Amino acid sequence: STATLRVEREVDSTNTRLAALRAGGEAVDILLAEAQSAGRGRRGRRWISPPGGLYLSLYRRFSGPVRRLEALGLVAGLAGAAAIERCCGLRAGLKWPNDIQIDGRKVAGCLIDLGGRRDGASAIIGIGINVDFRGQTAPDQPWTDLATTTGQATDRNRLAAALIDQLAEDLDTFDDQGFAAMQARWARRDVLAGCAVLASGPGTTMIRGQAQGVDESGRLLIQTPQGLRRLHGGEISLRTN
Ligand code: BTN
Repeated sequence: STATLRVEREVDSTNTRLAALRAGGEAVDILLAEAQSAGRGRRGRRWISPPGGLYLSLYRRFSGPVRRLEALGLVAGLAGAAAIERCCGLRAGLKWPNDIQIDGRKVAGCLIDLGGRRDGASAIIGIGINVDFRGQTAPDQPWTDLATTTGQATDRNRLAAALIDQLAEDLDTFDDQGFAAMQARWARRDVLAGCAVLASGPGTTMIRGQAQGVDESGRLLIQTPQGLRRLHGGEISLRTN
């Protein structure tokens, strides 16, 4: 199958812009930008998006109802981590629900915008990767970029191509077989497994316990004194302590 890809110098947010293009009847499947003026992160936060990052959004339709897409952020994270590893030879870990980390520092994040339709679900899958922010990265920050980590420039086109290939493959697997088919891959990259965590979110009481991986739907398992709890991605914020 073919996909239409568009590259822009700067947009507000590739997720927002791709949704607008599609709503306007334009058959763009993948939107890449050199920079974003209003990049969006999870939980309503901003995603600072200067040149030197990779900002990608991909539109896709899925066969089932939208509730089958709960683990889509985890799938995007898996694809991103695999692409980074293939391109840069770096070991990339995953922090539930969808942060990509290298040596404990965040290097990429994913943002999913879901859409429902009568004949199936659709989603815009956004991924932002810190590729080369040398000169902007301070050593005491909880984030890093690929160039600082490897000590050399990363070819952003190669990384984008690897990411698009990996996403195509992983999204097909997910659509056909669900997250269960990828649970073992998650476990191999899970940086939270065994860690003491504190989860909180609007309308949720705080949950304190030990992270014990994810279940076949991609929910985080936390062992607490009151028993095993399962967390949905959503608005949850997670701290290790
Ligand atoms: C997060 O970790 O909070 C998620 C960050 C997601 C950033 C990407 S960059 C491409 C796409 N467009 C956006 O506005 N956000 C996502």
